Amino acid sequence: MTRTTEALIPKLQEYVAANSSAPDQVLLDLAAETEKLFPDDNFMQIGPEQGTFMTLIAQISGAKQVIEIGSFTGYSAICLARGLRPGGTLLACDISEEWTSVAERYWKRAGLDDTITLKLGPALDTLRALPAEPQFDLAFVDAEKEDYVDYWEELVPRMRPGALILADNTLHHGQVVDPDENATNVQGIRAYNARVSADDRVEQVLIPIGDGVNLARVK
Ligand SMILES: C[S@@+](CC[C@H](N)C(=O)[O-])C[C@H]1O[C@@H](n2cnc3c(N)ncnc32)[C@H](O)[C@@H]1O
Repeated sequence: MTRTTEALIPKLQEYVAANSSAPDQVLLDLAAETEKLFPDDNFMQIGPEQGTFMTLIAQISGAKQVIEIGSFTGYSAICLARGLRPGGTLLACDISEEWTSVAERYWKRAGLDDTITLKLGPALDTLRALPAEPQFDLAFVDAEKEDYVDYWEELVPRMRPGALILADNTLHHGQVVDPDENATNVQGIRAYNARVSADDRVEQVLIPIGDGVNLARVK
């Protein structure tokens, strides 16, 4: 029994992966193709344990209407969409036609092309164009780190009571606690974690899975 989180040395990371549900062939092929097509960018994709975690979160929460901010080649959207209740939908927001053209191929292959709708354009514009009333059960934030607080302010009024907001990279490779690290994206993440912590409309936990997932539940 311990009250702290274990740091994952590589061997322990392997153990975690070996004891988590493995990605299926669609996700394995998507990860391989993303690495082949975009070797300089594929680090942006969430990892397999985080994917399984997000499918479970969607299932456990009973989510039906989901929004994703930052879809890249589609891995995280597949994981979330697979956890939705029957008839559920996911609005995938991104600005890259090139990356999301891969996503759309894999969403079709996963049988999710009727579930996931792609909205190309800056996510803040997409959010602001949506009615400012509760409509989503689950959100996943994974686009511009500098804009995370602005995504938050637009998302919260659009979430139903009990809805969940997940945000990725909220440990930012440990740089969040490095006083010498002041890149704008790290500052954006620090500001987001601080904003969520101070917001009494939610309760939240920062989960050290992947690069850190901030999980907030709207009261
Ligand atoms: C970290 S990647 C998302 C990774 C994805 N969630 C996954 O697991 O595969 C960030 C994505 O945000 C998109 N993006 C960047 N700026 C954006 C903006 N202003 N609005 C919407 N999407 C944006 C990028 O095109 C990129 O695909």
